[in-house]
Amino acid sequence: MDKAEILRLVETQQKRYSLPQAFYRDPDIYRHDVEEIFLKSWLYAGHQSEIPNVGDWFLFEFDEESVIIVRSAQNEVNALLNVCRHRGSRVCLESSGCSKRFTCRYHGWTYDLAGQLRAAAHMGESFDKSGISLMNLHVGLLDGMIFVNFAEDPAPFSLVREGLADCLEAYGLKNARVAHRQSYPIASNWKLAVENYTECYHCAPAHPEYSRGHSLAYPEARSQQISREVMARAGVCGLSDKAVSQMYGSAPAFGADYFFERYPLLRNHLTGSEDGQPVAPLLGSIRDFDGGTTDVQVGPVTFGLLYCDHAVIYRFTPLGVNSADCDITWLVRGDAEEGKDYDKDRLTWLWDVTTQADKAIIERNQQGVNSRYYSPGPLSEMEEFTWTFLSWYLQSIKSAA
Ligand code: FES
Ligand SMILES: [Fe+2]
Repeated sequence: MDKAEILRLVETQQKRYSLPQAFYRDPDIYRHDVEEIFLKSWLYAGHQSEIPNVGDWFLFEFDEESVIIVRSAQNEVNALLNVCRHRGSRVCLESSGCSKRFTCRYHGWTYDLAGQLRAAAHMGESFDKSGISLMNLHVGLLDGMIFVNFAEDPAPFSLVREGLADCLEAYGLKNARVAHRQSYPIASNWKLAVENYTECYHCAPAHPEYSRGHSLAYPEARSQQISREVMARAGVCGLSDKAVSQMYGSAPAFGADYFFERYPLLRNHLTGSEDGQPVAPLLGSIRDFDGGTTDVQVGPVTFGLLYCDHAVIYRFTPLGVNSADCDITWLVRGDAEEGKDYDKDRLTWLWDVTTQADKAIIERNQQGVNSRYYSPGPLSEMEEFTWTFLSWYLQSIKSAA
């Protein structure tokens, strides 16, 4: 599909309608998405507790890219492109490890933890290693959460950090630890997965487990009074009651979006678990369960649920035009011990069942969209945020044209 045709689709898009089929299937549009959105936005790679020691690393991968996230000799976090500077082979092949150096297995070029080339055999006397290194990406740290950006001159991550500083403080996520991380491959275009995440119109019918305790499933349940009561308790428990939203279009710069909002849990639920009862020790400096929970967003495709006793971080990335990854990280207090302070199955139960249900919904959505009879349909009031995402997305196509 050529540019003019894509632009025509953008121009004729009806407000508050889902997108035409091409946006979920066309390879040229998919290329746009990767290059103009994913290579220019702040993307969640993982948590620093996954690389506690010098030389610890793991890979962050999407589309055709692979990045080595490594703890450097200076105890910093580096993001190195996993592409050898000799003839381009992948350097690290496992999903994680601990190394003093990175040696490419093709011809043995060896790099240090900053990506600098240190050894290359038989390259001749005049060969100068000094200017050769694995490409470094920009890294942004937000309370222990590692974000990377492929752009040469990305939006300053400080905008996000400053915007969310007060809101995140009490959770002490810098001292949290990954209790579990899991990837859910979804046979759909990445946008269908984000559209699904950004609305709770489907929550009541599709997620009975989630809807038992979360008021987002029923807008009418979020009365002013209940919200006010929870906010008042939040303050007492050391949690922020300050909602901030700089999202999709109102973000301070492209790809540096952020959002934070606290809302009530229902039916005496204290956290996001099967029975609403605590599943781990209180996070950070939080003093008690206040009966509320927090939605947070950083960058365009990373979302979080912050409960008083654990956090769940979602990241959506494209693997191909009809293939996406939903990566989930469960965080608990850094000193919490599995088996003693928390049970992994109880901790992960709610968002595992919910995500499996979402995976099925999103895949069926893609199957329907693939039909020659699909045509865009109108969005409900409960899909307003999905429309905010879609309008931002369409705008990104216009700006790139
Ligand atoms: S491609 Fe890596 S050493 Fe040759
Ligand atoms: Fe869902």
